[in-house]
Amino acid sequence: MAGSRERWNSKAGFVFAAVGSAVGLGNMWRFSYMTAESGGAAFVALYLGFTVLVGVPIMLAELTIGRGSGKSPIQALAHYGRDRLGGSAWKALGVVFVLAGFIIISYYGVIAGWTLRYAAEALVGFGSDAGAHFGEISEGLDAFLFHVVFMAVTIAIVRRGVSSGIERVSLVAMPALLVLVIGIALYAATLDGGSAGYAYYLNADFANVFSTKVVVDAAGQAFFSLSLGMGAILTYASYLDRDNNLPAQSGVIAASDFGVAFLAGLMVFPLIFALGLEGEVSGSTIGALFVALPKAFAGMGAAGQVVGFLFFVALVVGALTSAISLLEVVVSAGMDGLGWERPRSAIVMGVAATAMGAASAWNIKVLGVMDGVANNLFLVGGGLGLALFVGWIMKDPIEEANEGAGGSRIWLVIWLNLLRFAVPIVLIWVLWHSVPETLRSVADLF
Ligand code: PHE
Repeated sequence: MAGSRERWNSKAGFVFAAVGSAVGLGNMWRFSYMTAESGGAAFVALYLGFTVLVGVPIMLAELTIGRGSGKSPIQALAHYGRDRLGGSAWKALGVVFVLAGFIIISYYGVIAGWTLRYAAEALVGFGSDAGAHFGEISEGLDAFLFHVVFMAVTIAIVRRGVSSGIERVSLVAMPALLVLVIGIALYAATLDGGSAGYAYYLNADFANVFSTKVVVDAAGQAFFSLSLGMGAILTYASYLDRDNNLPAQSGVIAASDFGVAFLAGLMVFPLIFALGLEGEVSGSTIGALFVALPKAFAGMGAAGQVVGFLFFVALVVGALTSAISLLEVVVSAGMDGLGWERPRSAIVMGVAATAMGAASAWNIKVLGVMDGVANNLFLVGGGLGLALFVGWIMKDPIEEANEGAGGSRIWLVIWLNLLRFAVPIVLIWVLWHSVPETLRSVADLF
């Protein structure tokens, strides 16, 4: 396509959009249910470890490739792969990213659809039979229709473009989300009986840390929550100018993402324990929070109506800014790879992803398997590919990462060595333990 590439209007606009990508259902819904499933604080500690030692380096790798190439993932990898070992075969990694984007947005929209519905229902008040209710609305035509509504809004924003769509929405949505999350966490702190929730959330039972499954889950969660391993951050960075300080930005984005996840735990666990609903989430599954929280809100009377509404609004807002970034990966691939104009790419790709969501909307098992495949295979595998690419293939990554930062290089030398050695070793270990089980879960569907 002729003409110059779209740009963010401001540095803050980019950071808000990237934080908006990272902060979403992953922080609130997935983080809480994974933490509940894995026994509380030990999981949180592991997840924090992955965020710092693996997430931040890969975040900076994506920012560096994206800004340096000024291209969407497939072309970006082709750009830096040229004349290097592997050459244009590196494009394949970009193709995997776009595929991952398709898979994730398709089921992400379905979960976002549930939250949208719950925000509306909170206003009239949740019934006490929330368990049965979730069973009724989580699958089938109902689930699909709310998914369609959510996707239509997502498509409309992406269609408007980087600065007048994505950036404008993020600049409003992120501060609003933060106010909501802090407000609800403060409200939860006033509840009698909530302290058992804090104890559960914050006292580590480190016996759990050594279970392979918990480690694998923490790794997948770190990638998902930070939007890493599928080119979302890379794509956003491709609209950046060269005077941005990428190392600093990667720290800010990761810290904000962890901060919101941590706050989400401070809302969810006291709410659930105060109403004595912890049984609902032990051995937690995808739907647990959608059962336990409405029950909790229903038990709080009028206050529950208001807080429940605000809680699900926060979820919808977070989901929206994340879904935008997922769709943008696919849409930018259509623009750069197929030469389509943005509006056309947004609509064609958006409608295709929405239609694909039917599989998850009609079968919650499919949704769960897609989530497992996306996180444990695609994102972790994509992260491994990125680490190897920047660590061993790309020319002068330190120079590129340092542009606009210009600080001491020692941190970047550490960064590059993490990408070369520690990150690949850890991710290969994770894949080694997760791939067989993930493939089995796919086979079980048939
Ligand atoms: N990070 C988003 C969340 O936490 C999900 C996401 C994953 C977005 C991958 C983009 C890419 O909800």
